[in-house]
Amino acid sequence: MKFISVSALSCALVAVSGLCIRDTTSAITLGQLNKAIPARASDSSCSSVSTPDECAPNSRAVAAINSAIAKYGVTQRGEIVALISLMAYESANWQYNINHFPGRPGQGTRAMLMYNFIEQYAQSLYPSEATKVLAAGASTDAQNNVRALVLGDNDSFGSAFWYLVNKASAYHGKGDKLRSGNADDFKDYIVNGVGAGWDDSRHSIWETVNGAI
Ligand SMILES: *[C@@H]1O[C@H](CO)[C@@H](O)[C@H](O)[C@H]1NC(C)=O
Repeated sequence: MKFISVSALSCALVAVSGLCIRDTTSAITLGQLNKAIPARASDSSCSSVSTPDECAPNSRAVAAINSAIAKYGVTQRGEIVALISLMAYESANWQYNINHFPGRPGQGTRAMLMYNFIEQYAQSLYPSEATKVLAAGASTDAQNNVRALVLGDNDSFGSAFWYLVNKASAYHGKGDKLRSGNADDFKDYIVNGVGAGWDDSRHSIWETVNGAI
């Protein structure tokens, strides 16, 4: 496997030749994120949604995403594009931080992890707090309280990265998974790595993000 580190633009140019497989980046810019997720380019975009308290503009998202890139060591461009695309779909462009449809207790973060993963994530970051909350019993309130531990920006935008590295490691840092610019690899990750349903709007989101990052 040849390791090539190039910018996204030159990557796009050589992608057709099959050379652009593992280009890396250690941070994204606000300009890139605004192009990827135009709905949240403006800081005031969150005031017109139905859940303003849960909504984050790109100016907040970019810091949290870059924090997760560094924390989890996810630097392959194809992985970053995939995780941003997944989060944009699941949270409706950072509008939601918890599940509303149908409103499953304990489900949330920008990746909208199911409660079983939220519990593992919270236990890994805040073991004593999570254990204390769960000692009260496995009620829906307890599930929501565990979720509340990981809804801050860094943790909420970080959960997709945590999941990739810890729960779907076969897709992380591999030369033949989540390759840069590869839509089939993205679909493979969504369907087989995450176990989520496919929907063509996931592809259009990925196209926009892939063209921007
Ligand atoms: C989020 O992460 C960044 C970078 O790691 C850090 O500087 C910042 O303090 C964190 N924010 C919170 C609220 O923990």
